[in-house]
Parts: sequence; C-alpha cells; structure tokens
Amino acid sequence: MSIHPHEIPGDLVDRPDRNLALELVRVTEAAALAAARMVGRGEKEAADQAAVDAMRLVLDTVRMDGVVVIGEGEKDEAPMLYNGERIGDGSHPHVDIAVDPLEGTTLTAKGMPSALSVIALSEQGSMFDPGPCYYMEKLAGGPDVAHVLDLDRPLGETLRLVAEAKGITLGDVLVVVLDRPRHEEGIREVREAGARVRLITDGDVSAALQAVTTDAPVDLLWGIGGTPEGVISAAAIKCLGGQLVGRRGPRAAEARRAALDAGYDLERQLTVDDLVRSEDCFFSATGVTDGDVLEGVRYQGARGATTESLVMRARSGTVRRVHARHDRAKLRSVAGERLG
Ligand code: FBP
Repeated sequence: MSIHPHEIPGDLVDRPDRNLALELVRVTEAAALAAARMVGRGEKEAADQAAVDAMRLVLDTVRMDGVVVIGEGEKDEAPMLYNGERIGDGSHPHVDIAVDPLEGTTLTAKGMPSALSVIALSEQGSMFDPGPCYYMEKLAGGPDVAHVLDLDRPLGETLRLVAEAKGITLGDVLVVVLDRPRHEEGIREVREAGARVRLITDGDVSAALQAVTTDAPVDLLWGIGGTPEGVISAAAIKCLGGQLVGRRGPRAAEARRAALDAGYDLERQLTVDDLVRSEDCFFSATGVTDGDVLEGVRYQGARGATTESLVMRARSGTVRRVHARHDRAKLRSVAGERLG
C-alpha cells in the first residue's frame, strides 16, 4: 500500500525513515579516498581539507534537510561544513549532522594507523551541541560493563568491577588512553590497580569503537578527548551497543567560566542517550589508514582502490561492513580530481 505524504501523521513525517547510513557510506568513502592521497605527506591541514572538500561534494547529493551540529568549527574559520551550515535540498528528513571528515589528521600526516573519515546523522534537534566545551572526560565500554561506568568512582575501583562483570582478572583488563600529560595520574591509577594500558597518540573515536566491541582486545576507553568526538562516538555506540559516559571539561579557567556563565552544567555525566537523543541515528566510518577497527584505503593497479566502512543504524541495530572497490579514473571523470 502506498501512503500519500499528506496522510502520514505529523510526527512521522519528520522521522528519517529510510536507512540514510547506506547513503552516508558514499560520503565517508569519498572523504577517505581523498585523504588517503595525503597519507604520510606531513601536511595535516591539507589532508583535512582534502577530506572536507570531498565529503562536502558527496554530502550535497543526499536528499535531506540537514544542519551541521558538529562540524569543522565556526563559519569564519571553516568555509565548509561549519557548525550551523545547512546541507541538502531542504526536503524530508530533517536531521542533525556530525562530521569528522578526517578523524586523526596527525595520524594521516604521519602515515600512522587508525585514521578514519566519520559522519553521523540523527533526527533534527537530537544531537548534543558542545558549545564552548571542547574537551570531555570519557569512559566507554561494551554492553557487559555499561552498568559500571561512572566517572565519580575511583578508576581503580571501576576496573575491578569491569573485571568482575567480564569474568576476567584485573591483570587482563586493557584500557585505551590518549597519550597526554593530563592523563599521567589516571594512567598511574590503572597500573596501580594491576590493569594494562594501551596508549594511543590520537583518534579516540576509533578507540571508543574498539572499547565497545565485545570481541576486541580493548575493554575500556578512558580519558579526556574532544567533545565533538564524544558525540560522534555516542552515535556509533547507539548503533553498536555499549555505553559512553562523558563529562564536559573546558580545561582552561577562562573557558570554564564562559561555559558556566552560559549555563552549562559541567558536573553532570552525560550518557549516549543525552549525547544523541533519538533512535533515528545513522553512522558511517571509512578507514583512511589501516587500524584495529577498519582497513585503510588500498590502491590496486594504476586506477583501482578499495575501502572498508562500518555502516550502522540505531533503530534497527544493523551493523554492516562495506568493502568497496573504486575505479579512481572513472570517479575522477564523474566528480573531478578531488575524489582521489
Ligand atoms: P584531529 O583529527 O582533529 O587531529 O583530532 C584527533 C584527536 O586525537 C581526537 O581523536 C581526540 O578526541 C582529540 O584529538 C584530542 O585532542 P588533543 O590532541 O587536544 O588532546
């Protein structure tokens, strides 16, 4: 039976009812292909720009009325994919957009593992706006430990509960942490509790994906990283299962004051349902460089390339791995030089 648009109840008209993730995979593939040309070239801004340009080009082909909630920054500094930018042809569905065309700019510039291109979409008005709070303390883990994640509890104690919930010894627990001086104390706590630490130089979205995946070698993600990356990780976790709790924490006193004055509650722990307040949530990530979660772009012959993507929808819980083969010469003839 076909339903005329006028017969659809108002609250359903606005719901993104098709699996947008299947369209989003083209968006992250394009960005990853473009960024991959810049792997190891030591130019992180240029790598990011290549990903942004390609992502924007393909994003324009997705039929929707989107507003960028998590983007490349403020309009003046970011000519494309800036926070607040409207994307699409204005037609249904109405969605919030979070993009990180290149998550791991330094990883890409140095040819290091785990750089991704990422996008998440959710029902309009449902995505958390980080405002002035660039940093967030995060604790993420899979469905089996979701109930013990609490930033107010000493880390060592949480690790004991994680081991108990997983039926493993504390010495088996592996926590992934961004290698930053601000984490020295936390790292010491993990080690003193008898657990293990995996230090990463960048890329806590990829780390969050690993932490919530049941058969991955990592049990938890802990530490302070970007709030935008926290929202993007939350969108992925809504689809995959597991939990991330986060607490906004502008680290500089001035930024903290501004956030408090603007009415932000900096003490509250936010869960994935606070960070993305809708089940109509879609996620796609494509590997740029090889990592634990996704294979990076590989070149085949003079004109071929392959990509691997993770494509997910929260409402249905479907998680797809999409392996694609691209003909770079044909892509270029369709979309220009920017697509790798
Ligand atoms: P970029 O891709 O923008 O370089 O960010 C990478 C990243 O490592 C994120 O994964 C992480 O959340 C954030 O930077 C941490 O910020 P900082 O480098 O300031 O500690």
